[in-house]
Amino acid sequence: MFDHGKIERNSILMVVGILIVVSIGGIVELAPLFYLESTIEKVKGVRPYSPLELAGRNIYIREGCYNCHSQMVRPFRDEIERYGHYSLAAESMYDHPFQWGSKRTGPDLARVGGKYSDEWHRNHMIDPRSVVPESVMPGYPFLDAPLKVGDITAHLKTNAIVGVPYTDEMIAKAETDLVAQADPDSDEAEAVEERYPGAQVRDFDGKPGAPTEMDAMIAYLQILGTMVDFGSFKAEGDNLR
Ligand code: HEC
Repeated sequence: MFDHGKIERNSILMVVGILIVVSIGGIVELAPLFYLESTIEKVKGVRPYSPLELAGRNIYIREGCYNCHSQMVRPFRDEIERYGHYSLAAESMYDHPFQWGSKRTGPDLARVGGKYSDEWHRNHMIDPRSVVPESVMPGYPFLDAPLKVGDITAHLKTNAIVGVPYTDEMIAKAETDLVAQADPDSDEAEAVEERYPGAQVRDFDGKPGAPTEMDAMIAYLQILGTMVDFGSFKAEGDNLR
């Protein structure tokens, strides 16, 4: 019925044949994805970054921290014992671009939130060897600089365009929220906690006054991996704990 010999002896025919077969496989795999609203299981607690956290994340990217740090705990027993629950897709669903990274000169940071005090982070960012004598991490003492506030509204808007559910109110209040989160005495502090449940409002850099890049960086590091309550969450098929 079908002359196999012909196809096997004619490379062009063979290539066309392969393409047809591979594209059937591809369509079967890809087509359903276009009909799903989301391929990421929503998980309670995961919310968009607050303006201050987002500003810290931007500095993390600017300084290239991802060149030495990953942000993804893989589902292997050794990683889970070292870092905690493996990362869920939902935990980076609002990361544009995500910071999974591919190099670990330093440890994974996906669950570093709450591991150290703000003061430890401050000392560590200014001079890593003051707290970890054998560290090869460079110091970032210049993060003492005042934080640029004026562009945060644009950052929220841009994230909203690519699907992060920032509301009009969040966008309108972005600058106020950013300043208030680093100033616990501010009248606006409570509103930040309401808009961004679980947001930590305090003076991260220990210096009163206008927010610095250090405030933003520490606010970001301290929220990493803390949004999901793993005391009550159990992933489907999770048999690693
Ligand atoms: C040249 C590689 C390198 C770069 C770049 C780097 N780090 Fe590190 N980092 C390390 C190493 C190595 C350690 C482990 C030793 C230590 O704690 O200092 C570390 C540790 C850390 C820790 C403590 C993690 C833990 O669980 O103990 C934090 C937080 C951290 N880095 C944040 C940052 C941030 C934020 C940046 C960017 C501003 C950054 N690092 C850039 C190499 C790097």
